[in-house]
Amino acid sequence: MRSKELLPHAREKAEKYVKVVAAALAVLVICLFAVSAMAVPPGKTVEFPDGAMGKVIFDGKVHADKGLKCNDCHTKIFPMKKGGTIAMADINAGKFCGACHNGTRAFAAKDAANCTRCHKK
Ligand code: HEC
Ligand code: HEC
Ligand code: HEC
Repeated sequence: MRSKELLPHAREKAEKYVKVVAAALAVLVICLFAVSAMAVPPGKTVEFPDGAMGKVIFDGKVHADKGLKCNDCHTKIFPMKKGGTIAMADINAGKFCGACHNGTRAFAAKDAANCTRCHKK
């Protein structure tokens, strides 16, 4: 008799537990998805609008494949938000892309032979 009374109770408890775990997992999955949907790498690009030299497409995958981590760029070089103002003079002065594209860590932005590696018509 006793066990028959306890069983439904235990089952109810177990069901509650499963629901809590499922809800927690759902929240976790949504958070991970939101982060990966926003992140530049992997598989994401940021397009800088057309300038005199044509638009520039920053490819997160190209950079991730070179072993760069989020904190190599964020937030000391770029905010984690697109739409920042980047001027070529700043790049040439070693800021933004120019923090790396200086001929040491990556191909030099100043070099006329390299303009079209970033700028596409
Ligand atoms: C080589 C540099 C670099 C690396 C590495 C990098 N990012 Fe970025 N990220 C950028 C640039 C550039 C932008 C655009 C900034 C702007 O427009 O001013 C950006 C923008 C973003 C944004 C805003 C996107 C939007 O649509 O508003 C997020 C979020 C972001 N990065 C997350 C990440 C995460 C997470 C990682 C690591 C997995 C990462 N980034 C690695 C350079 C980088
Ligand atoms: C490492 C990538 C990279 C290289 C290489 C590069 N640029 Fe840029 N350039 C940019 C980015 C990013 C912007 C900002 C575009 C925007 O915000 O629309 C820009 C903007 C510009 C602009 C717009 C006006 C201004 O002054 O900001 C001009 C003109 C320009 N670049 C010329 C050049 C020339 C000429 C070269 C070659 C000597 C060159 N760029 C090489 C990334 C690069
Ligand atoms: C933290 C360092 C870092 C920053 C910041 C960075 N890059 Fe790079 N980028 C690299 C490295 C490293 C490579 C691969 C080595 C090379 O090609 O010289 C690379 C490669 C590239 C390439 C591939 C070129 C090709 O011909 O395959 C492009 C395009 C590029 N970067 C554009 C940009 C632009 C645009 C920005 C700024 C919005 C930027 N990068 C900022 C490190 C960086």
